[in-house]
Amino acid sequence: MDSMLIRGGFPLIGEIIVSGSKNAALPIMAASLLTNQVLELSNIPKLSDINTMQSLLKHHGASISSNEQDDESLVLKLQSNSISDLTAPYEIVRKMRASIWVLGPLLARFGEAKVSLPGGCAIGARQVDLHIAVMKAMGAKIEIKDGYIYASSNGRLKGCSFAFAKSSVGATINAILAAVLADGKTDLSNCAREPEIVDLCHCLNKMGAEISGIGDKDIQIFGKTTLSGASYRILPDRIEAGTYMIAAAATRGDVKLRGIKYDIVENLASKMIEAGIEVKPYKDYIHIKHSGPIKPVDISTQPYPGFSTDLQAQFMCLMSLADGSSVVSENIFENRFMHVPELCRMGANITINGNKATVKGVGGLTAAEVMASDLRASVSLIISGLCAEGETKVQRIYHLDRGYQTLEKKLSNCGADVSRIVKDTI
Ligand code: UD1
Repeated sequence: MDSMLIRGGFPLIGEIIVSGSKNAALPIMAASLLTNQVLELSNIPKLSDINTMQSLLKHHGASISSNEQDDESLVLKLQSNSISDLTAPYEIVRKMRASIWVLGPLLARFGEAKVSLPGGCAIGARQVDLHIAVMKAMGAKIEIKDGYIYASSNGRLKGCSFAFAKSSVGATINAILAAVLADGKTDLSNCAREPEIVDLCHCLNKMGAEISGIGDKDIQIFGKTTLSGASYRILPDRIEAGTYMIAAAATRGDVKLRGIKYDIVENLASKMIEAGIEVKPYKDYIHIKHSGPIKPVDISTQPYPGFSTDLQAQFMCLMSLADGSSVVSENIFENRFMHVPELCRMGANITINGNKATVKGVGGLTAAEVMASDLRASVSLIISGLCAEGETKVQRIYHLDRGYQTLEKKLSNCGADVSRIVKDTI
């Protein structure tokens, strides 16, 4: 397995261009199953999760062409005019939970789908009960057996009124993907409001869907009998952007971040400003600059527009360097502190009590060999390595390739000393 070697202790100085959003690209790719026409998507990031979604769609019978652009993003042309297999098999779904997003489109367009249960993952059990409940509310018959969700509908799905018992990005997406082809109007309430859901809705409306209330908790969808193709540009990745904002601050750097709008990272920016870091929005970039002490700031993860759980591990690394104690509360996933023991091996002082971690700032982190456990935990260890004097080796970085396009290159361009050890023996 590949590892990452980091010789830390240098500030990040330079410019970073933010890639397209993985979490927007994945459901929008799944939306290509809703039409027999071509969906052309640009600003797709080059990531292993994108490859996995391509494999799944091809498995169903979709044809996909991929062209790399000068900025290393991809343009994908996806066409689902000869779908031949309505099963999302375990071998693919186990690699990526987002595979569950083929359920809504397959069921809505073909009246049938068999999707492997994704199962839990390192950060928690991650149920799919809400995905199933909303499909049932639209009239689908659902049976769970042999580790699979068997879904079928007698004719078109029916528009319905459905209130999500809790905010779920995944279930909101699946519901929208199904309702756009359902018969009649669907009223969804207590929807998740993440910008990636907004992006999906804009793309679907370009494909001829009729969705209103986009970005609100209550969404209305008038189902159509067919959708058409479209060309759509994926929004930039706010989690990637936030990760580099934190890395710039933690290394006492000076970074201009291009390609991201301030408003979708404002929840993070306001916490960084509270911590005494300079974060300034300009027309074409966000400027992050820091020297001197970092003030301790408490964070509590919440659905958007609250503080993102996907930035919790990175912020915890920043707080490990603060002058004083802070509390990090994780409210979205039950087991999202896997990075804590590894951060402690690098000299951080963090104690966990239930869903709260008390972070006592230490003067500096120390280099060590550490192990990545999930995507965001991995990158928090990379940031820690950038801050620590000496040589840090982060093992199992395949997680990083799921979510950070050309991470080494982007960091090296800002003066970081990072290199990948391909097929390390450990
Ligand atoms: C998505 C994101 C992930 C992010 C998360 C929360 C993608 C590919 N992944 O994951 O990066 O961390 O949103 O912002 O976009 N839940 C249920 N029942 C369900 C569905 C969810 O109880 O049917 C629970 C989950 O176990 C979790 C919480 O709801 O505790 C939030 O999950 P959800 O918002 O659905 O996250 P994902 O879509 O899996």
